[in-house]
Amino acid sequence: MTTSIARQDETALGGPLSILTLQRRDHVRLDRLMDRARETLATGGVEHEVALRAIARLVFTHAFAEEAVLFPAARRVLPEGDPLSLHIEREHQEVDELVTRLDRSDPSDPEHADLLEETFAALDEDVRSEEDELLPRLQQELDGAALRLLGLQWGLLRLTSPTRPHPVVSRRPPGQVLSALPLTFLDRARDRLQQLGEALGGRGAGVLGAVDEALAGASGAVERSPIIRTGQRRETARGTAPDRDRDDPAAPVGRAGGVREDRPG
Ligand SMILES: [Fe+2]
Ligand SMILES: [Fe+2]
Repeated sequence: MTTSIARQDETALGGPLSILTLQRRDHVRLDRLMDRARETLATGGVEHEVALRAIARLVFTHAFAEEAVLFPAARRVLPEGDPLSLHIEREHQEVDELVTRLDRSDPSDPEHADLLEETFAALDEDVRSEEDELLPRLQQELDGAALRLLGLQWGLLRLTSPTRPHPVVSRRPPGQVLSALPLTFLDRARDRLQQLGEALGGRGAGVLGAVDEALAGASGAVERSPIIRTGQRRETARGTAPDRDRDDPAAPVGRAGGVREDRPG
Protein backbone atom coordinates (compact mmCIF):
# COMPACT_ATOMS: atom_id res chain seq x y z
CA MET A 1 0.00 0.00 0.00
CA THR A 2 1.44 3.37 -0.97
CA THR A 3 0.57 6.93 0.07
CA SER A 4 0.45 9.78 -2.42
CA ILE A 5 3.42 12.11 -2.01
CA ALA A 6 0.84 14.93 -1.90
CA ARG A 7 -0.16 13.67 1.56
CA GLN A 8 3.31 13.35 3.13
CA ASP A 9 5.56 15.85 4.91
CA GLU A 10 8.99 16.81 3.59
CA THR A 11 10.89 14.65 6.08
CA ALA A 12 8.99 11.56 4.94
CA LEU A 13 9.82 12.48 1.33
CA GLY A 14 13.58 12.43 2.07
CA GLY A 15 14.20 16.13 2.79
CA PRO A 16 14.36 19.24 0.58
CA LEU A 17 16.70 17.75 -2.05
CA SER A 18 14.86 14.47 -2.59
CA ILE A 19 13.40 13.91 -6.07
CA LEU A 20 10.00 13.52 -4.36
CA THR A 21 10.13 16.97 -2.72
CA LEU A 22 11.51 18.65 -5.86
CA GLN A 23 8.79 17.10 -8.01
CA ARG A 24 6.01 18.17 -5.66
CA ARG A 25 7.41 21.71 -5.44
CA ASP A 26 7.34 22.07 -9.25
CA HIS A 27 3.82 20.61 -9.41
CA VAL A 28 2.58 23.20 -6.87
CA ARG A 29 4.25 25.95 -8.91
CA LEU A 30 2.51 24.64 -12.00
CA ASP A 31 -0.87 24.94 -10.23
CA ARG A 32 -0.17 28.61 -9.52
CA LEU A 33 0.94 29.29 -13.10
CA MET A 34 -2.20 27.64 -14.48
CA ASP A 35 -4.31 29.92 -12.23
CA ARG A 36 -2.36 32.90 -13.59
CA ALA A 37 -3.02 31.84 -17.20
CA ARG A 38 -6.75 31.53 -16.47
CA GLU A 39 -6.79 34.98 -14.85
CA THR A 40 -5.08 36.61 -17.85
CA LEU A 41 -7.21 34.80 -20.44
CA ALA A 42 -9.89 37.51 -20.62
CA THR A 43 -7.44 40.38 -21.12
CA GLY A 44 -5.07 38.41 -23.39
CA GLY A 45 -2.06 40.38 -24.63
CA VAL A 46 1.49 40.18 -23.34
CA GLU A 47 0.45 39.17 -19.79
CA HIS A 48 -1.31 36.05 -21.04
CA GLU A 49 1.58 35.24 -23.39
CA VAL A 50 4.07 35.58 -20.52
CA ALA A 51 1.90 33.30 -18.33
CA LEU A 52 1.72 30.65 -21.07
CA ARG A 53 5.43 30.83 -21.72
CA ALA A 54 6.18 30.38 -18.01
CA ILE A 55 4.02 27.24 -18.03
CA ALA A 56 5.72 25.89 -21.17
CA ARG A 57 9.18 26.51 -19.74
CA LEU A 58 8.32 24.78 -16.47
CA VAL A 59 6.45 21.87 -18.07
CA PHE A 60 8.87 20.98 -20.86
CA THR A 61 12.10 21.24 -18.87
CA HIS A 62 10.48 19.29 -16.01
CA ALA A 63 9.14 16.54 -18.28
CA PHE A 64 12.29 16.27 -20.39
CA ALA A 65 14.41 15.65 -17.29
CA GLU A 66 11.86 13.07 -16.06
CA GLU A 67 12.12 11.17 -19.34
CA ALA A 68 15.94 11.27 -19.29
CA VAL A 69 16.56 10.45 -15.62
CA LEU A 70 13.48 9.59 -13.55
CA PHE A 71 11.68 7.12 -15.80
CA PRO A 72 14.82 5.13 -16.74
CA ALA A 73 15.47 4.84 -12.97
CA ALA A 74 11.88 3.65 -12.44
CA ARG A 75 12.35 1.02 -15.17
CA ARG A 76 15.53 -0.22 -13.49
CA VAL A 77 14.09 -0.36 -9.97
CA LEU A 78 10.41 -1.31 -10.36
CA PRO A 79 9.10 -4.52 -11.93
CA GLU A 80 6.13 -2.50 -13.24
CA GLY A 81 8.41 0.43 -14.22
CA ASP A 82 7.89 0.02 -17.96
CA PRO A 83 4.04 0.25 -18.09
CA LEU A 84 3.99 2.91 -15.35
CA SER A 85 6.48 5.15 -17.17
CA LEU A 86 4.93 4.44 -20.58
CA HIS A 87 1.57 5.64 -19.28
CA ILE A 88 3.13 8.93 -18.13
CA GLU A 89 5.11 9.29 -21.37
CA ARG A 90 1.81 9.08 -23.24
CA GLU A 91 0.44 11.87 -21.04
CA HIS A 92 3.57 13.93 -21.84
CA GLN A 93 2.99 13.28 -25.54
CA GLU A 94 -0.57 14.53 -25.21
CA VAL A 95 0.64 17.71 -23.48
CA ASP A 96 3.24 18.27 -26.25
CA GLU A 97 0.58 17.98 -28.94
CA LEU A 98 -1.92 20.18 -27.09
CA VAL A 99 0.61 22.95 -26.38
CA THR A 100 1.69 22.90 -30.03
CA ARG A 101 -1.95 23.60 -30.96
CA LEU A 102 -2.32 26.15 -28.14
CA ASP A 103 0.75 28.08 -29.38
CA ARG A 104 -0.88 28.42 -32.79
CA SER A 105 -4.27 29.56 -31.45
CA ASP A 106 -5.29 33.17 -30.90
CA PRO A 107 -6.32 34.00 -27.30
CA SER A 108 -9.38 35.85 -28.65
CA ASP A 109 -10.53 32.67 -30.41
CA PRO A 110 -13.02 30.57 -28.34
CA GLU A 111 -10.99 27.47 -29.27
CA HIS A 112 -8.08 28.89 -27.27
CA ALA A 113 -9.99 28.69 -23.95
CA ASP A 114 -11.06 25.10 -24.70
CA LEU A 115 -7.49 24.10 -25.61
CA LEU A 116 -6.22 25.78 -22.46
CA GLU A 117 -8.56 23.72 -20.25
CA GLU A 118 -7.81 20.53 -22.17
CA THR A 119 -4.08 21.12 -21.71
CA PHE A 120 -4.49 21.84 -18.00
CA ALA A 121 -6.60 18.68 -17.54
CA ALA A 122 -3.80 16.64 -19.20
CA LEU A 123 -1.23 18.30 -16.93
CA ASP A 124 -3.36 17.52 -13.84
CA GLU A 125 -3.51 13.86 -14.90
CA ASP A 126 0.25 13.76 -15.36
CA VAL A 127 0.79 15.14 -11.85
CA ARG A 128 -1.64 12.60 -10.36
CA SER A 129 0.07 9.69 -12.15
CA GLU A 130 3.40 10.75 -10.69
CA GLU A 131 2.37 11.82 -7.18
CA ASP A 132 -0.10 8.97 -6.56
CA GLU A 133 1.58 6.08 -8.42
CA LEU A 134 5.13 6.28 -9.75
CA LEU A 135 6.82 8.38 -7.04
CA PRO A 136 5.32 6.49 -4.02
CA ARG A 137 6.49 3.22 -5.59
CA LEU A 138 10.01 4.63 -6.01
CA GLN A 139 9.83 5.77 -2.38
CA GLN A 140 9.20 2.15 -1.35
CA GLU A 141 12.24 0.86 -3.21
CA LEU A 142 14.86 3.63 -2.77
CA ASP A 143 16.46 4.98 0.43
CA GLY A 144 16.89 8.71 1.20
CA ALA A 145 20.38 8.93 -0.31
CA ALA A 146 19.21 7.40 -3.61
CA LEU A 147 16.19 9.76 -3.72
CA ARG A 148 18.50 12.74 -3.19
CA LEU A 149 20.95 11.56 -5.88
CA LEU A 150 18.04 11.23 -8.29
CA GLY A 151 16.90 14.72 -7.25
CA LEU A 152 20.35 16.12 -8.05
CA GLN A 153 20.51 14.43 -11.47
CA TRP A 154 16.99 15.49 -12.38
CA GLY A 155 17.53 19.07 -11.14
CA LEU A 156 20.76 19.49 -13.12
CA LEU A 157 19.28 18.13 -16.30
CA ARG A 158 16.23 20.36 -16.00
CA LEU A 159 18.53 23.40 -16.22
CA THR A 160 19.75 22.32 -19.66
CA SER A 161 16.56 20.98 -21.26
CA PRO A 162 14.45 22.21 -24.19
CA THR A 163 11.77 24.75 -23.19
CA ARG A 164 9.26 24.19 -26.01
CA PRO A 165 7.10 21.32 -27.26
CA HIS A 166 8.73 18.86 -29.68
CA PRO A 167 6.09 16.17 -30.27
CA VAL A 168 8.12 14.24 -32.87
CA VAL A 169 11.10 13.57 -30.57
CA SER A 170 11.38 10.12 -28.94
CA ARG A 171 10.24 10.16 -25.32
CA ARG A 172 12.98 7.67 -24.46
CA PRO A 173 16.75 7.62 -24.74
CA PRO A 174 18.83 7.52 -26.83
CA GLY A 175 16.89 9.75 -29.27
CA GLN A 176 15.44 11.84 -26.46
CA VAL A 177 18.88 12.59 -25.00
CA LEU A 178 20.54 13.13 -28.41
CA SER A 179 17.94 15.79 -29.25
CA ALA A 180 18.70 17.73 -26.06
CA LEU A 181 21.78 19.68 -27.11
CA PRO A 182 20.54 21.24 -30.39
CA LEU A 183 16.93 21.74 -29.24
CA THR A 184 17.92 23.28 -25.89
CA PHE A 185 20.20 25.75 -27.67
CA LEU A 186 17.55 26.68 -30.27
CA ASP A 187 14.63 26.90 -27.80
CA ARG A 188 16.54 29.09 -25.39
CA ALA A 189 17.76 31.36 -28.21
CA ARG A 190 14.12 31.81 -29.30
CA ASP A 191 13.12 32.55 -25.68
CA ARG A 192 15.76 35.33 -25.51
CA LEU A 193 14.49 36.79 -28.80
CA GLN A 194 10.93 36.78 -27.50
CA GLN A 195 12.02 38.60 -24.33
CA LEU A 196 13.97 41.10 -26.40
CA GLY A 197 10.92 41.72 -28.58
CA GLU A 198 8.81 42.41 -25.49
CA ALA A 199 11.45 44.75 -24.05
CA LEU A 200 11.58 46.69 -27.33
CA GLY A 201 7.78 47.03 -27.33
CA GLY A 202 7.35 46.01 -30.97
CA ARG A 203 10.35 47.89 -32.41
CA GLY A 204 12.56 45.70 -34.62
CA ALA A 205 9.75 43.16 -34.91
CA GLY A 206 10.59 42.45 -38.56
CA VAL A 207 14.23 41.53 -37.89
CA LEU A 208 13.42 39.58 -34.73
CA GLY A 209 10.65 37.73 -36.56
CA ALA A 210 13.04 36.75 -39.36
CA VAL A 211 15.66 35.46 -36.88
CA ASP A 212 12.96 33.56 -34.98
CA GLU A 213 11.77 31.99 -38.20
CA ALA A 214 15.33 30.89 -39.04
CA LEU A 215 15.71 29.33 -35.57
CA ALA A 216 12.32 27.62 -35.90
CA GLY A 217 13.48 26.26 -39.27
CA ALA A 218 16.65 24.88 -37.65
CA SER A 219 14.48 23.20 -34.95
CA GLY A 220 12.39 21.66 -37.72
CA ALA A 221 15.57 20.32 -39.37
CA VAL A 222 16.64 18.72 -36.06
CA GLU A 223 13.16 17.22 -35.67
CA ARG A 224 13.34 15.70 -39.15
CA SER A 225 16.58 13.87 -38.30
CA PRO A 226 15.79 10.14 -37.85
CA ILE A 227 18.30 9.86 -34.98
CA ILE A 228 16.03 11.81 -32.60
CA ARG A 229 13.37 9.11 -32.98
CA THR A 230 15.63 6.25 -31.84
CA GLY A 231 14.22 4.52 -28.77
CA GLN A 232 10.70 5.73 -29.59
CA ARG A 233 7.83 3.44 -28.52
CA ARG A 234 5.03 3.34 -31.06
CA GLU A 235 2.57 4.22 -28.24
CA THR A 236 4.14 7.68 -27.91
CA ALA A 237 4.68 8.50 -31.59
CA ARG A 238 3.09 11.75 -32.76
CA GLY A 239 -0.68 11.50 -33.15
CA THR A 240 -1.04 8.61 -30.68
CA ALA A 241 -1.71 10.70 -27.56
CA PRO A 242 -4.54 9.16 -25.50
CA ASP A 243 -7.99 10.66 -25.60
CA ARG A 244 -8.74 11.26 -21.92
CA ASP A 245 -12.45 10.58 -22.49
CA ARG A 246 -11.63 7.07 -23.64
CA ASP A 247 -10.36 4.18 -21.56
CA ASP A 248 -6.58 4.18 -21.79
CA PRO A 249 -5.35 0.57 -22.10
CA ALA A 250 -1.92 1.67 -20.83
CA ALA A 251 -3.38 3.09 -17.60
CA PRO A 252 -2.12 1.34 -14.47
CA VAL A 253 -4.82 -0.54 -12.58
CA GLY A 254 -6.01 0.49 -9.11
CA ARG A 255 -5.29 4.15 -9.72
CA ALA A 256 -5.76 6.31 -6.62
CA GLY A 257 -8.33 9.09 -6.66
CA GLY A 258 -7.20 12.68 -7.22
CA VAL A 259 -5.87 14.55 -4.19
CA ARG A 260 -5.32 17.93 -5.79
CA GLU A 261 -7.49 19.68 -3.22
CA ASP A 262 -5.18 18.49 -0.42
CA ARG A 263 -2.11 20.06 -1.93
CA PRO A 264 -0.69 23.36 -0.83
CA GLY A 265 -0.90 26.36 -3.20
FE1 LIG B 1 6.53 15.72 -12.58
FE1 LIG C 1 5.52 14.51 -15.90
